[in-house]
Amino acid sequence: MSRQTVIILDFGGQYNQLIARRVRECHVYCELLPCTTPLEKVREKNTIGIILTGGPNSVYEPASPHYSPELFSLGIPVLGICYGCQLMSYTLGGRVVPAQDDEAREYGKTIASYDTAAAIFSGLPEKGQAWMSHGDYMEKIPAGFRIAATTEKCPTAAICDESRGFYGVQFHPEVMHTENGTQMIHNFLYKVCGAVGDWTMGDYCKTAIESIRRKVGSQKALLALSGGVDSSVAAALFAEAIGNQLTCVFVDHGLMRKNEGDEVEQAFRKWDINFIRVNAEEEFLGKLKGVTDPERKRKIIGEEFIRVFERVGKQIGRVDYLVQGTIYPDVIESGLGNAAVIKSHHNVGGLPDYVDFREIIEPLRILFKDEVRQLGRELGLPEYLVNRQPFPGPGLAIRIIGEVTKEKADLLREADAIYREEIDKAGLNRSIAQYFAVLTNLRSVGVMGDGRTYDYAVALRAVDTSDFMTADWSRIPYDVLDRISSRIVNEVKGVNRVLFDVTSKPPATIEWE
Ligand code: XMP
Repeated sequence: MSRQTVIILDFGGQYNQLIARRVRECHVYCELLPCTTPLEKVREKNTIGIILTGGPNSVYEPASPHYSPELFSLGIPVLGICYGCQLMSYTLGGRVVPAQDDEAREYGKTIASYDTAAAIFSGLPEKGQAWMSHGDYMEKIPAGFRIAATTEKCPTAAICDESRGFYGVQFHPEVMHTENGTQMIHNFLYKVCGAVGDWTMGDYCKTAIESIRRKVGSQKALLALSGGVDSSVAAALFAEAIGNQLTCVFVDHGLMRKNEGDEVEQAFRKWDINFIRVNAEEEFLGKLKGVTDPERKRKIIGEEFIRVFERVGKQIGRVDYLVQGTIYPDVIESGLGNAAVIKSHHNVGGLPDYVDFREIIEPLRILFKDEVRQLGRELGLPEYLVNRQPFPGPGLAIRIIGEVTKEKADLLREADAIYREEIDKAGLNRSIAQYFAVLTNLRSVGVMGDGRTYDYAVALRAVDTSDFMTADWSRIPYDVLDRISSRIVNEVKGVNRVLFDVTSKPPATIEWE
């Protein structure tokens, strides 16, 4: 029997990826699909459960997204969350109405009382904090259902029809603020859907290797390695599966952090693959000479990558497969439109038009970022690669304000290395989502010994974020900042001032360019 799957139908709520991650944390494979996905697709897998997500609409409005009532005749358990709960209720004959202000409308933390005889609340305390975010409520629940949780304001905070395996919760079990929320999802999966927990990274790794071997046979594959987590893990997976039938092209544009190029090369020594490192620093810096506009820098670097890759590709000749490190969040189609593009994020690897190959393979297409890291560990990649923070494709070019030169890049590399070293020493590296130094284009007066200096100011950026769409600046302790600052001004010639960036995103962005 194929792997057990939970299908999550996405009605546009903001926590939907989180639901998928929780399910996978419970060792059950799941897919997040748009709410427009046809019913046939929902049942074509070994689907053991269906989750209907939250969303911004009201079910009683004709234009809001609905789903075929047949979904509830498949004999598959369903968990509705927030909008999903209201939709299930509405579709099966309940009544959903807008809540009046002081009636059942709730936002934020609320205390809920649970009926622990209901399978999803089994084994939990009878009261707990739940995270609510709803303006509608179920005035009448459908026939066959009973109430399984209440709050002070909402008499229908959860409902269930245990004979059919249908559960609905008004609150969000997937968010941290709901106490025991993951346990509720675990209960739904194991006590209601009959999950066996067949989604583990070790198993996935073995299966993925076998299927790559089957597919590629004795043919050849090519991969553009950027040194980021995704392309490194994709490369390691292919290296393990097909060894020297794989060629990895690693274009070092000279705008990496200190030692990074060597670290990447080192990590792949243990495999017998064709590893081609192209040291193209001069070429990239040549093209960037005199350029100060951030978007032009991005464009030039993106184009230059293609040119270098194309040149190497010609030497390699035709390959059968091009491997790309696309991951699940890149693939998921949300029920909602995409946000405005503020910066053009050229990622290394978008090259298929220029290379002669037959087919693209994306071996990480179904994995979330934390799963990709886990897979990297399974494959024996070193922690410094697996845990690498996001690094923009154009590298230091967008962290050097104004014109990029080799001298400035070297100076920034040194300052950034000190920053990272001290953050590591202070044990903060896992708790800050992204941190790096920026070389501002500002010079100011200082004094060193008895002499006057006129040197650069380096800015330190550090952010706390989970999605990189919004971010807060990290509260790095003063004594750590102090150590970083004095080491940078003492050890990096050409820098006499250190600044700490205390702006959130928005209105600032994470990178300075
Ligand atoms: P911003 O600066 O837009 O950054 O707040 C959000 C995230 O995207 C990364 N970033 C880039 N990544 N190419 C990339 O591959 C780029 O041109 C680029 N610009 C920003 C940034 O590091 C952060 O993680």
